Amino acid sequence: MVEVKVESFFSENIKAALKNDPPGAWMPDLPDGCIRLSSGYPDPALVPAEELKVAVARLLDEEQDLPLHYLGSPRIPRLKQQIQKRLEERGICVLEEQLLITSGACQGIDLIARVLLDDKAVVAVESPTYMEALEVFQNYTKRIISIPIDEQGLQTYRLKEMLNERKRTGQTLPRFVYTIPTFQNPTGTTMTIERRKHLLELSIEYDFLILEDDAYGELSFDKNPVPIKSIDTCGRVLQVGSLSKVVAPGMRIGWIAGESEFIKAFEWFKKDLDHPFAQSSMAVYLENTDFEKRLDLLKDTYRSKCTALIHSMEQFLPESVSWYVPDGGYFVWVRIPGVDTSQLLSQALAEGVSYVPGKYFFLDQNDGAEFLRLSFSFANEKEMIEGIRRLGQLIASSLS
Ligand SMILES: Cc1ncc(COP(=O)(O)O)c(C=O)c1O
Repeated sequence: MVEVKVESFFSENIKAALKNDPPGAWMPDLPDGCIRLSSGYPDPALVPAEELKVAVARLLDEEQDLPLHYLGSPRIPRLKQQIQKRLEERGICVLEEQLLITSGACQGIDLIARVLLDDKAVVAVESPTYMEALEVFQNYTKRIISIPIDEQGLQTYRLKEMLNERKRTGQTLPRFVYTIPTFQNPTGTTMTIERRKHLLELSIEYDFLILEDDAYGELSFDKNPVPIKSIDTCGRVLQVGSLSKVVAPGMRIGWIAGESEFIKAFEWFKKDLDHPFAQSSMAVYLENTDFEKRLDLLKDTYRSKCTALIHSMEQFLPESVSWYVPDGGYFVWVRIPGVDTSQLLSQALAEGVSYVPGKYFFLDQNDGAEFLRLSFSFANEKEMIEGIRRLGQLIASSLS
């Protein structure tokens, strides 16, 4: 029998992409009972399982087979209106044709990359950045450049220097800059309003688009920062958003908001790759939910969990360890000078606590060796404190 040479059937793009780390390489299997400070998932107690059960039952009672077709449920256009309304409350006014519902923000990022990138295109990302977005971009181009961030978010003056230099030397300018300006993953930092405006100015001066990932935008401990999309007067911002962090990631509901010509192209390639049943169920859930009240509960819970995590870090981590204190979102970004966090991970897992090593969030993974990302969203307060106590002991012994 002649064996099938599987690889020979892959397209050149896919062959190149398969040389990257596989998706999810950043998190090995976790031992049973492990305290998960790695997981960027919502608090299990805040996932509205009962309410979604009621919503699904009501949907099928009222609409019978309609939500089970490709299209047909009147709730699908209603979900779009509900998201339009949520965006409006954040200062983003989009028409129906300027909004596309996607299977999570991730499908939005993938569609944008698919439509805008080829192997000649340049993309600029923050350093560090959300590793899954990095994986997506790497599937389309090798020409990715990174711009450092600090406590005030993307260093736009460094971006300007880079753009200037590329222009002066005749190099390709980025097609878009990918940013998570609010409660960034992994650093938890938030871009100042001055830098948001500066980034918009640069996008006009150097003719690029801004891909604003707003996955955590409504999860402020205090006031939500202004989305870049809300101050974009030139149609340069494509915003991706999601209900994963505020309702449930398994529902896979996200969106892209942008100029209708872009949306038309994204829609062309999305076709039926989304989930009408989940969309119509979500619409019923939203009809029956006081969302502002829900957001207040989420914010209060995550604020208090974040405070508990930071207190335990102050108590249990050695003096040389430092971190940013976030104003919202799910994450705390930690630096441990002199420790390679990817080497430490196997010991941490053996002690029953997980985190994500910093290297996965960087284009040049060496830049992330001394960092790690902790999440305060998933584990409960008692587990988090115990997890940090164990981590503190490991770090101390690795430093000595
Ligand atoms: C910055 C960022 N964008 C997008 C996503 C994915 O969102 P979704 O579940 O809607 O695909 C995540 C999830 O971790 C994220 O951290």
